[in-house]
Amino acid sequence: MPSALLNVMVNAAKKASVKIRRDFNELENLQVSVKGPGDFVTSADIRTQKIIIDELTKAKPDWSFFAEEKQNSNANNSKNRFIIDPIDGTTNFLHGNPNFAISIAAEVENRLEAGIIYSPVYDELFFAERGKGAFFNDRRLRVAQRKKLSESIVVTGIPHLGRGNKDQFIKEMEEIIPEVSGIRRSGSAALDLAWVAAGRYDAYWETGLSLWDIAAGIIIIREAGGVVTGIDGSEKDLYNGNVIAGNDKIHENLLKKIKNIYLQDN
Ligand code: IPD
Ligand code: CA
Repeated sequence: MPSALLNVMVNAAKKASVKIRRDFNELENLQVSVKGPGDFVTSADIRTQKIIIDELTKAKPDWSFFAEEKQNSNANNSKNRFIIDPIDGTTNFLHGNPNFAISIAAEVENRLEAGIIYSPVYDELFFAERGKGAFFNDRRLRVAQRKKLSESIVVTGIPHLGRGNKDQFIKEMEEIIPEVSGIRRSGSAALDLAWVAAGRYDAYWETGLSLWDIAAGIIIIREAGGVVTGIDGSEKDLYNGNVIAGNDKIHENLLKKIKNIYLQDN
């Protein structure tokens, strides 16, 4: 049985999604307008976050928020907080690509307690609570059980204009390309983590993320039996936004390939 806390988080995401789906349909028209969809997307992001925070506040008025569009509101209470990305995959959303999601995590006394990732267009809900397992809609989630990189599909984030370390990424790719059965780039870190938890991808790595991109995904992967750490293998590096995830064996193998490159450059 999902807890009251989890239900509140799911309801907030579902309520916000009604508006997001309408905005997403509207974007199809904006793609061809002279002004383009840029400003519209920024305000959609802010509106979505407001709906989510308003809903969560009704149920948990004394919790604080750490969220992409407005950080540290109600910051005097640091014990319990929600970590929110209202639209993870904003560039996809902007381009009319449905691969984006709402990500909400609940942290109690510095420990992740629950996480949900909801994709409004696919209508897919991934969630987990500490010690209770991870779920996809009503089904229990397990990470994929492949043991060899050569059989694995790995997903990542690619640096681009104004973002990321291109040279480091190219070195990482040189290591990974000859080893794996496929590499993907989806454009939503939250969905990448959720899909690793669901066994749709075998592993994921990316550097330079923010906590709101990954907090819900971290608990969902762990409750699905997977391993997620920073790229140097530590928890601290993970909380700095550098992520590597998979089942224990694939995580270990990928970490061996990437860790040294990362440490040389950081
Ligand atoms: C981005 C997505 C993307 C990742 C970027 C993130 P946003 O979040 O998660 O997959 O590669 O680094 O910033 O900006 O779409 O919320
Ligand atoms: Ca994000």
